[in-house]
This record gives sequence, C-alpha cells and structure tokens, in this order.
Amino acid sequence: MTAILEKSTKEIIPSQEMIPEYFRITKTQKDTHDTFTIELEPPKNGFNFTPGQFNMLYMFGVGEVPISISGDPSDRNKLTHTIRAVGSVTRTMQKLKKGDFVGIRGPFGTHWPAEESIGNDIVIVAGGIGLAPLRPSIYHILSNREKYGKVVLLYGTRTPNDILYRKELEQWRARFDLEVLITVDRAASDWKGNVGVVTTLIPRSHFDPFNTVAMVCGPEIMMRFSVQDLLKCGVAVNNIYVSMERNMKCGIGFCGHCQCGSTFICKDGPVYPYNNVKDIFIKREI
Ligand SMILES: Cc1cc2nc3c(=O)[nH]c(=O)nc-3n(C[C@H](O)[C@H](O)[C@H](O)COP(=O)(O)OP(=O)(O)OC[C@H]3O[C@@H](n4cnc5c(N)ncnc54)[C@H](O)[C@@H]3O)c2cc1C
Ligand code: FES
Repeated sequence: MTAILEKSTKEIIPSQEMIPEYFRITKTQKDTHDTFTIELEPPKNGFNFTPGQFNMLYMFGVGEVPISISGDPSDRNKLTHTIRAVGSVTRTMQKLKKGDFVGIRGPFGTHWPAEESIGNDIVIVAGGIGLAPLRPSIYHILSNREKYGKVVLLYGTRTPNDILYRKELEQWRARFDLEVLITVDRAASDWKGNVGVVTTLIPRSHFDPFNTVAMVCGPEIMMRFSVQDLLKCGVAVNNIYVSMERNMKCGIGFCGHCQCGSTFICKDGPVYPYNNVKDIFIKREI
C-alpha cells in the first residue's frame, strides 16, 4: 500500500519545471501603442538563458503565456520580456507596475546559432515584435563583435508607430560595425525612411551570401518570403534559422499542445533550421 501511495504521489507531483517562481518587476516601459517591456529581478543566483529561449509567464487567476526573453544574456541579474498586448493574459500584463510579481517558468527551448556562426557574416531579419526574440542574439554578437564578419540587421514594421526599441536602433545605426536598415509597410509623408516590406531591404544590404548565417523572426508569412529571398540571393538553406510560435501549455514537451507532426515547438524549437520546418509554416497544431 505504501509503495502504491509513494508511486501515485510521485506521478502527480508536477516536475520542478511546472512550478512558477515569482519574480518582482523592477521596471516597466511602454515601447509602442500596444507593446511594453518589463524588467524583473531574479530571486536567487541570477538568471541564465541562451538567446532565442522563452519563458512561460504566469498571471495568477488569468493564465500563462509563452514569451521570449528580450534582454542581454550577459546580465544575469535582470530578466527582460517585451510583450504585445493581444488578448486576455497579455492585456492584464499591460497593467503591471514596478513592485508587482510575475510567475516565471523557464527558460525553455532552443536558441539562435550565434556561437555556431562565429566567422560568418550574420543577417538578422526581424518583423514587428519579432525583433524582441532576436535582441539577445544581437547583444551577444555585438559583445563578441570581432568574432563575426559583416553583421546586418533588417527590420520591418507595419507603420513607424510600431517600431520597437527606437533609441537603441538609433545607437546601433550609428555604429560602423553594424548595418541597420529599417522599413515600414505604410507611412504618412513625414516618414523619411524606406517604405516596403522587409524583404525589399535584402538586396540593399551588404553581406557575402555564401558565407552568411541568417536568423529570421516575425509573422510566418514574413519568414517564408524572407527565406525565399535569402535563398535566391545565395544564402545556403542550412544556414537559415527561423523561430516558430504556437499555442503552448506545458512548455516542456509533455502536453502536446504545440505539436506539429513529429515536432514539439516548445522543446525542439522555437528556433529551427528552416529546412526542418518548411512544411509546417502556416499549419496549426495537430
Ligand atoms: C515561443 C514563443 C515565444 C513568444 N514570444 C513572444 C514575445 O516575445 N512577445 C510577445 O508579445 N508575444 C510572444 N509570443 C506570443 C504570445 O505567447 C501570445 O501573444 C500570447 O500567448 C497571447 O496570449 P493572450 O492570453 O494575451 O491572448 P489570447 O486571448 O490567448 O489570444 C489572442 C490572440 O493571440 C493568438 N495567440 C495566443 N497564443 C498564441 C501563441 N502562443 N502564439 C501565437 N499566437 C497566439 C490567438 O490566436 C489570438 O489571435 C510568443 C509565443 C511563443 C509560442
Ligand atoms: S507546450 Fe506542451 S508539448 Fe509543447
């Protein structure tokens, strides 16, 4: 009997990975009309993650959502998330203030191949909020800048009002060792920059396609067209990486919510070599 009890208790106790830990908000910042960034203080010995990974963010009484980590991976004492308010959980999060607490599980998932790409040119293609999951990779590459060839950031948003991290983009644009091109789908006449989808920036940028690793993040349709154009200009299919999003529940490959065919986006992704996921673009979970 004791043995049976012990066994069943073991089976029902959730793994450590399923228990959120509470992190205190140290700063909130409005980025655009619908997007905001929160900084949290890790409770124990700092927070380690690899660029591209995500956390499950838990709002008591409302729900839990997957959100990529958008801060600097070398700063273990600060955890940063950039969130677009689209539905019940993220709209509740928009009301969070300094001093409030958020439940965190993670980090989960795979990462951008920044380390593996040393010696290559790097092209980062971001659409909308897709810049947030790529930002840790940009920090990592910039703090190891001498290890890479040309580094190019191509960023597209719907309108100028949707541009994230404006100040930082200006600072990056001022650097001689980083090429930053920005475009918007549509703008009023006071916009002096590029107009057009993000793929129109690919032929304008300067990198050696035969020695380039590309990291692409944004809506799936944007990723699909970006990949097509990168391939057309000569980037090898095995050197193109994308980040996939699906509805998630457990984040650890247990519940099957994010399953697409044989892959679990939470565990085998969200970052994939394009070749491994080209057939599941635009398809929902099984
Ligand atoms: C690995 C991963 C990383 C993500 N990183 C970020 C990030 O850094 N910043 C950010 O703002 N968002 C990110 N998302 C999307 C975010 O999880 C959803 O916007 C969020 O779950 C919406 O929850 P909600 O309760 O506010 O909205 P809901 O009311 O649940 O949904 C509102 C709308 O969002 C869609 N949606 C809901 N959940 C998801 C989801 N998981 N993926 C895609 N669409 C969804 C619904 O179809 C619906 O149209 C990420 C998603 C994944 C899977
Ligand atoms: S979210 Fe549960 S298996 Fe991926």
